Amino acid sequence: MLDAGQLADWERDGFLVVPGAAETDACRAVIERAEQIVAGFDPTTVSVFSTHEQTRTSDEYFLSSGGEVRCFFEEEAFDAEGDLIVPKERAVNKIGHAQHDLDPVYDAFSRTETLAGIADDLGIAEPLLLQSMHIFKQPRIGGEVTCHQDATFLWTEPDSVVGLWFALEDATLENGCLWAEPGGHRGPVRQRFVRAGATDADGTRFEELDPTPLPEPGEGASLVPLEVEAGTLVVLHGRLPHWSGPNRSARSRHAYSVHVIDGRAEYPAANWLQRPADLPLRGF
Ligand code: FE2
Repeated sequence: MLDAGQLADWERDGFLVVPGAAETDACRAVIERAEQIVAGFDPTTVSVFSTHEQTRTSDEYFLSSGGEVRCFFEEEAFDAEGDLIVPKERAVNKIGHAQHDLDPVYDAFSRTETLAGIADDLGIAEPLLLQSMHIFKQPRIGGEVTCHQDATFLWTEPDSVVGLWFALEDATLENGCLWAEPGGHRGPVRQRFVRAGATDADGTRFEELDPTPLPEPGEGASLVPLEVEAGTLVVLHGRLPHWSGPNRSARSRHAYSVHVIDGRAEYPAANWLQRPADLPLRGF
């Protein structure tokens, strides 16, 4: 699937941009499916309307989402009183985290020969599709995703996670495209995001592993923008620092990502994301 030049780019940069990896129609179908899911979403089921409350009490909603299809809000979708200031279809930040196993449209988009071939080329011998996210990056209020490494959130021993990120719409500087640090995957994992206790109610915490700061976005920074057209796949190494800015433009920036781990690696019980026993992880 990947040629020698692409594999060399991957080794050097820790990411790979593959234009045309998904058909425009397939991208459109996923966006339409997301719109249907949001249309069927009752915001009151989250039972939290202030952003403060959401941060504090959404732990269980968030922590049990590894085996569900759930909607999460944009922080800026609320006013100071905690009321939604935009219609719910403009308020959702993302859908996660198991639609690739629970929804036929996402399943079909996530399990393709192209992706299976890429995972194989990257040396993932026993690929397991761990997590999926549909990210809306809504017009005007689409939130920043601070600089991070995916291995922080999807830790395996040894580390194995690879992100398969699709632009479902054109991603530009204006609507909050990805930025990545070329070669940054050779640095250490800085933090681990773990469960603070045995139950969802115990919440989460970050465990510091290495004090090396992550790159800051801005002038002279080591992060480079990845402006890509709809249908482009960006493959991200699990240790690669990456970031995306807020969207202040009038256009959304839909993206879909699925994260793959190697079944040969250990998946710790302390990881925030856990699957219920009746929904085991599957490959391509
Ligand atoms: Fe990420």
